[in-house]
Amino acid sequence: MFPGPLGQSLAGRALETGAWMLDISDIREAAQDKHRSVDDTPFGGGAGMVLRPDVLDAAIGPDDERPLLYLSPRGRALTQARAAGLAAGPGVRLLCGRYEGVDQRLLDARGAEEVSIGDYVLSGGEPAALVLLDACVRLLPGVMGAVESAQEESFSAGLLEYPQYTRPAEWQGRPVPAVLLSGHHAAIAAWRREQAEQLTRTRRPDLWRVRMDNAATAP
Ligand code: 6GU
Repeated sequence: MFPGPLGQSLAGRALETGAWMLDISDIREAAQDKHRSVDDTPFGGGAGMVLRPDVLDAAIGPDDERPLLYLSPRGRALTQARAAGLAAGPGVRLLCGRYEGVDQRLLDARGAEEVSIGDYVLSGGEPAALVLLDACVRLLPGVMGAVESAQEESFSAGLLEYPQYTRPAEWQGRPVPAVLLSGHHAAIAAWRREQAEQLTRTRRPDLWRVRMDNAATAP
């Protein structure tokens, strides 16, 4: 599953140029017995299997400076700010669970931080890890150009992106907003800001409130 779709795309090119690297380990390689078992039935009963702490501990290896993140719907939701923080750091170690979960003692002993990518359930952590990696890799120096970084700041400022248009200037009876054809740069910037604010207010009142709160408390 790795690098999977990240091998194509922008992240794939960045992987080739060495802007980031990926080291995959299969936890089955850390299994102790001849059946190479990595999981067992839950104490207390219940459905499914739980990944063993001893096997995971061996698979993870010694601690280093990188945070250990466990992808889980139980975690705190990934945000742009968290992705930017991770991208600025020494790297990450991602633990992807399968089945019903991992033994809690492993998470406690290794100080793993649980991270979710949203309020829905995936069958395993791998697609969530790919999402997290994509969000971080595109922020690494040299991975994206100046245009994209400028747009980045707009989301980081807590606004949704304004609508975009390209040729033809009229399509199926739908004209492009006239201001965008005016060549009036200040008017275009003002229109875009207004659109971004309007979208944010109506679609994401939660983001808008945070923005208003930040503005109120700014020095
Ligand atoms: Cl990080 N993992 C799984 N298994 N499901 C999820 C998730 C993560 N985030 C949302 N749903």
